[in-house]
This record gives sequence, C-alpha cells and structure tokens, in this order.
Amino acid sequence: MIIGGSASQKLAAKIANELKCPLIPIETRRFPDGERYIRIKGELDNEAIVVQSTGYPQDENLMELFLILKNLKSMGIENIKVVIPYFGYGRQERRFKSGEAISAEIISELIEVAGATEIFCINLHEESITDFFQIPTHNLSAMTLIASHIQQNLDNPVIIAPDKGALGFAKEIADILGCEYDYLEKVRISPEVVETKTKKVNVKGKEAVIIDDIISTGGTIVNAARILKEHGASKVIVSCVHPVLVEDALLKIFAAGVDDVIATDTLLSDVSVISVAPLVAAAMLK
Ligand code: R5P
Repeated sequence: MIIGGSASQKLAAKIANELKCPLIPIETRRFPDGERYIRIKGELDNEAIVVQSTGYPQDENLMELFLILKNLKSMGIENIKVVIPYFGYGRQERRFKSGEAISAEIISELIEVAGATEIFCINLHEESITDFFQIPTHNLSAMTLIASHIQQNLDNPVIIAPDKGALGFAKEIADILGCEYDYLEKVRISPEVVETKTKKVNVKGKEAVIIDDIISTGGTIVNAARILKEHGASKVIVSCVHPVLVEDALLKIFAAGVDDVIATDTLLSDVSVISVAPLVAAAMLK
C-alpha cells in the first residue's frame, strides 16, 4: 500500500498506478492551535510505501512524515519503505563553520528512528547523506528521464553544467544522447548571490541545455543563461531535478531569456513536466 504525505500526494498516486498497489488515503489537518493531526484511513498490510518530499514548508512536511512513520510502526507495520523525492536540509550535510548543526544527519536519524526500514531518494544534493542512514538507502538518478525528454524535444543539444558540481549530471545526459557537454565556473558568494566566470564554451548555433540538481533562487541559472547567450546559443533550455524555485525564481529565469524550463515532479511546480514515478517504481521492484 502506498501513502502520500501532503507534499507528494500526486506523485504517490502515480507510483501506486505504476506498481498497481492501492493508494491509502490519509487525513491530515490542524488543531486550532496549529498542531498537526494525522490519521491513516484504510486497511493496513505488513508493508507500506510512504512518499513525502521534505521541501518547503520543510519543518511541516518533516513533522508530518515523522507522524506517519511512527504511526505505521506503532500499528505493527514491519516493512516501511520511505520515498523522499526531494530531501530538504540536504545542503547542510556537513559543518561548514564551527558550531553549525549538521541538519541532514539529524533529519536522517529522526526518519530512521520514526520507523523507516528502507529509504529511496532522488539525486540527493550530496551522495554522502546516504551514509547517515543505518538502513538500506538508495540515491536514484533522474538523469535518464531528463535525457529522454531532451531527446524527444531537441535536435542539436549541448549539455552545460552551471558549475563543476553538476558536471557529472551533464556527462551522464550527454553520454546517453551522444552529444557534447561542458561546464561553467561558479563561485557562491552567499546563499542568494553567485558569480559565474565567463568561460569559452562551444554552444554557437546549438540548443544549450543547462542541467542542475536544484534551482533555488535561480541565480545560478540566470548567470549561466547569460553566458550561453553571449556565446551564441540558438536556444537556452534549463533542466533540473528539484524545482525548489524560491519566490520569483522562475520569472527571473525567463526574464533572462531562457526559452524553456523543465523539471521533475519531486516537487510540484509549473515546470514539473517529467514524472519520477517510473523511476521509483522500477527501484521498488528490484
Ligand atoms: C548548488 O550546489 C546546487 O547544485 C545548485 O546550483 C544551487 O542550489 C542553485 O541555487 P540557486 O538557484 O539559488 O542559484
């Protein structure tokens, strides 16, 4: 049986359809003082798949996930697989400055303590987050799905990573498509400000496809798009796994002259056109 938390109901339904499993409804609401109420409505089996992204509002979605997991565990469900399509707090996976909380580690421990017995994530910001779990943990990649979307829609793409950290994604997609790839050099000044160095990239007359794991404020993409246009790209298409899209990020990206933005449905957004349901379902069946 599949249970979708508030953040991932639609995706949970799609996964249920892929697996031909029942989707169990949950009732989730608030008490007058703001505290959360959860009730799982439906017949329980010995195995459950819970789907919940922990993006904005992160703390609310996490609390809901903890309540669902602990509830299932205390009802005697032994096998609780948890799909976390977007793993919130994933960018604080180590102590960058002394005294900082390693949020990703704390969250991982709490998810496990609450009752998870196996974890499925998609393109974690840092692969090392899997090490915080003591239970089997899978970090799936949505790059094959993104590559297939590019293949169906573009004739002459070149894949561009907006920073070195995304180079592996660009290579993965370019290898599938048999096209060229490159990367730009980015320096993050603050959570809101990034600088991207102008670098010679061979995109003249080509459809440049930027690939990143996350688009948050959009600063990284705006800079990259500007450079690719300056170098004569015929089109600039932006792709990402997790469309976090803080405030007017999408508007900033289109205002920078980007032709299209495509993302997966790990988070719901106006550009979540690629579903990760088949990827998750295939991993469950392995
Ligand atoms: C950084 O390491 C990530 O891969 C993304 O490039 C980053 O999260 C994007 O952030 P923003 O959209 O705020 O520039």
